[in-house]
Amino acid sequence: MNVRLLTLLFLLPQPALAGPPQVLPGQALFQKNCVRCHGANGKKGANGAHDLTKSNLNAFGRTYLVTNGMGKMPAFGKMLTPEQVQQVVAYSLTLK
Ligand code: HEC
Repeated sequence: MNVRLLTLLFLLPQPALAGPPQVLPGQALFQKNCVRCHGANGKKGANGAHDLTKSNLNAFGRTYLVTNGMGKMPAFGKMLTPEQVQQVVAYSLTLK
């Protein structure tokens, strides 16, 4: 299943009868790996982290940055699979 497409589906408004809101697969990954610096809402800015809600980086740029790291941001390419990186990036793009 294409993760991009999946994300799009999750972002569509949920019909009233759909039940509890869907949890993106990347959300748990974000909580485990990113929240200590970026915060649950992406705005924490600990350790010099950038405010993710103000980031202009697209999915491609974020994937590169998360995989390879930059400055004080660790490289997650060795800790997460490429699919997990894609999922956590997709989640980070939902923080507004
Ligand atoms: C140890 C702290 C730390 C952790 C953990 C961390 N980051 Fe970062 N992040 C940073 C710092 C510092 C920067 C700024 C890097 C720079 O430009 O030098 C940054 C920048 C970013 C940016 C670029 C924002 C912009 O446009 O400038 C994105 C996107 C990002 N992080 C996503 C993530 C994601 C997703 C995770 C979890 C997989 C994560 N970060 C985990 C510290 C962290």
